[in-house]
Amino acid sequence: MNNLNIPFVDLSWQNEPLMGQIDVSIRDVMGRGDFILGKEVREFEASFAQACGVGYGIGVGSGTDAIALGLRACGIVEGDEILVPANTFIATVIGVILAGAKPVLVDCDINTALIDLESAQKAVTKKTKAILPVHLYGQMVSPQKLQDFAQSNNLIIFEDSAQAHLAQREGKTAGSIGLASAFSFYPSKNLGAFGNGGMVVTNNEEIAQKVRSLRNYGAPKKYYHTEFGINSRLNTVQGAVLKIKLPHLQKWNDWRNQAGAKYDQLLQPLAQYGITPIKNVVGKGHIYHLYVINIKPSEVYDRNVIQNKLNKIGIETGIHYPIPCHLQPAYGYLGYQEGDFPNAESLCDNILSLPMYPGIKDEQLQMVSDKIKEIIISG
Ligand SMILES: Cc1ncc(COP(=O)(O)O)c(C=O)c1O
Repeated sequence: MNNLNIPFVDLSWQNEPLMGQIDVSIRDVMGRGDFILGKEVREFEASFAQACGVGYGIGVGSGTDAIALGLRACGIVEGDEILVPANTFIATVIGVILAGAKPVLVDCDINTALIDLESAQKAVTKKTKAILPVHLYGQMVSPQKLQDFAQSNNLIIFEDSAQAHLAQREGKTAGSIGLASAFSFYPSKNLGAFGNGGMVVTNNEEIAQKVRSLRNYGAPKKYYHTEFGINSRLNTVQGAVLKIKLPHLQKWNDWRNQAGAKYDQLLQPLAQYGITPIKNVVGKGHIYHLYVINIKPSEVYDRNVIQNKLNKIGIETGIHYPIPCHLQPAYGYLGYQEGDFPNAESLCDNILSLPMYPGIKDEQLQMVSDKIKEIIISG
């Protein structure tokens, strides 16, 4: 069997059944003509904030802008240092730089791939103003430990929840533990738009008001500019799509969580060969934006060999991410070197993201696991 045709992500399963409803809603937007910050944006902002357990949601153009504008609204200014994990999507770092601050990178836990607070503690200086935890792959960083850390160092918590829509840990929902939090609605996220989109969520009315101004040319009211702002607004067509999808999100996350548990079970016999999933320490609160395994290289295979072999038989995989932020050429000026963050570097060399989406079937999970077993045992 050469083409098993198991995609890495398949959005049709969630989009197709909703197309009729989405079509009607987009036609409504066209009829009204309120394309920018229109009715559906306001409605979606309110319902998404409520789903996160916070008071305010402010729709912006992307997750990257949500980080940049959200940090500025939290009072971050030029020269401030912000603690960021080295193993995140580069947009986390870009958001910090766009806010004028300096990203100070720290290592992660090798088992969970989440920010390591001991490593973060060593990086705190007098200029450190915030910690920016990334709820990577859909698993939250411990709210309690984050709060203790932030309190003892007098720091703001700003969450990067781009991969964690409705993720839970210790009874808290992603987006509700920081002073503010950023979400992305990039199409393949657990809650995805039909284009770019993002949101800042917060419980603080002043911060919400500030993001509303920053996303709209720095104008708290029309043609009156009190600060430097940009044009970064969630458009109404995306608001309409997201509003229709939101009521289905929990069901989709549950599907992912069950698929994650099934993969864990199927891959368990491979632990003896050094194949271990990124550890789920939160159970049902993990929303598996990505299902990632760590592959200890042997003499005959490593991550790249396994990825190529799976690809040849039609099983699509990904790597999130192949190069840690501190070794990206654009950020060499930050002064980091190879070896600075051994856990992040080791993960980047050895991890592989397996097919994962709501709608993936047990037979497909079984097939992916069987094929990995075959490659490892018989080459
Ligand atoms: C962890 C993380 N942070 C930030 C972003 C940026 O979001 P966007 O692509 O919407 O700008 C993404 C996703 O792309 C992400 O995965």
